[in-house]
Amino acid sequence: MLGLKCTVCGSEYGLDEAEYVCPHHGDDGILDVVYDYAHIQRAFTPDRVLADDRSIWRYLPLLPVRAEVARKVVTGTALATVGWTPLYPAARLAAGLGLRHLWVKDDSRQPTGSFKDRASAIAVVKAREAGAGVVTTASTGNAAAALSGLCAAVGQPNVIFVPRTAPQAKVAQLLAYGSTVLLVDGTYDQAFELCLQVARAFGWYNRNTGFNPYMSEGKKTAAFEICEQLRIARPRFKPRGLNSEPRMLAPDAVIIPVGDGCIIGGMHKGLRDLASLGWIDRMPRLIGVQAAGSSPLVDAWERGLEGWDMAPTKARTVADSICVGMPRDRIKALRAVRQTGGAFVRVSDDEILSAIPVLAQRCGVFAEPAAAAAYAGLVRAVEQGLVGAGQQVVVLATGSGLKDPASAIRAVEQPQIVAPDLSEVRRVLARL
Ligand SMILES: Cc1ncc(COP(=O)(O)O)c(C=O)c1O
Ligand SMILES: [Zn+2]
Repeated sequence: MLGLKCTVCGSEYGLDEAEYVCPHHGDDGILDVVYDYAHIQRAFTPDRVLADDRSIWRYLPLLPVRAEVARKVVTGTALATVGWTPLYPAARLAAGLGLRHLWVKDDSRQPTGSFKDRASAIAVVKAREAGAGVVTTASTGNAAAALSGLCAAVGQPNVIFVPRTAPQAKVAQLLAYGSTVLLVDGTYDQAFELCLQVARAFGWYNRNTGFNPYMSEGKKTAAFEICEQLRIARPRFKPRGLNSEPRMLAPDAVIIPVGDGCIIGGMHKGLRDLASLGWIDRMPRLIGVQAAGSSPLVDAWERGLEGWDMAPTKARTVADSICVGMPRDRIKALRAVRQTGGAFVRVSDDEILSAIPVLAQRCGVFAEPAAAAAYAGLVRAVEQGLVGAGQQVVVLATGSGLKDPASAIRAVEQPQIVAPDLSEVRRVLARL
């Protein structure tokens, strides 16, 4: 790591000069982590970086942590199992949409059931590096559950702020993992502001999304994995213009559900890392999906606004994980879509709920509403001609359906009730 660079003014800081945000831009001055790619290139080839480790830690030389601290904290704990989630070929889903090459990246398989484990794993190691007594975050629920579970795995005290309306399953995780849980009687945006204030007042290590610059660095590992796994899935596919066999293969488009914008910003960072190292030969287009009732980034993108021009909005959607009125990582999210020639789309709550059984039945992935929104967004992207039949497309399934069973139940038919009797079963099955 060379240092940190402000996404607003471009000022660069040494690692000790800025802890979280650019001193000139307050909480909006989100920082990018800058690496010495020439050094990494000299020291590692893809084959040597990609150790025999089926987790995010296979990318250690590209992560913003001290290797010896990471190894000590992670080994033998749940932290060691974060990442390297499956990339399923989804032929039946693809056929329904007239696509030929579709994959689903299943991050419901993370240790606490969501994509957020990627970022929280880095937070736990960074907190150890900083010698932090307490780690804290505000969250719509999954980042909290991820931090809570991974802190529990290593015995790290933590305090969590979630809106009172967070789904019960997510709150249950926090309590079972033994976090100090504060249910904020307000929105996620209010919980976030409160958590920033409290962290400052008490000197706690702050994991907040779109504030702590290292969270995008955890999230970028999904981009690394997709490009590696796609190569494994398509050994004979040779991108035009390449003579040698690439170790990694970039898809044409990735469909990503967006709340704060940290996942999409992190994916972009991962792809930029790989492009800078010359390990992929092109940038996939990033397509962000928001719920219609919580779509400030779609609005800003349509109106050509920058992140710093955006004003807080009211958010309401069944997809609690992406219910965000003022996206904290809006600068990185808009940049991800604009710089890759991607797009933002919005989907209704009905489309999100309907996507849950489709994804489950045609691909075997049980997704929570925010994750199902990615598939609903793909349907919209196909309608709008944003992705074509021959393109290689990846949908990010970011969280498990077990996180919010009540929403899944709303999306399916009621089950048959049957008396404990064979002839009854025959009668009911005949009717079905
Ligand atoms: C399951 C799931 N999908 C998508 C998102 C959106 O990620 P971001 O807020 O980084 O845009 C979240 C964030 O909480 C999430 O938990
Ligand atoms: Zn700045």
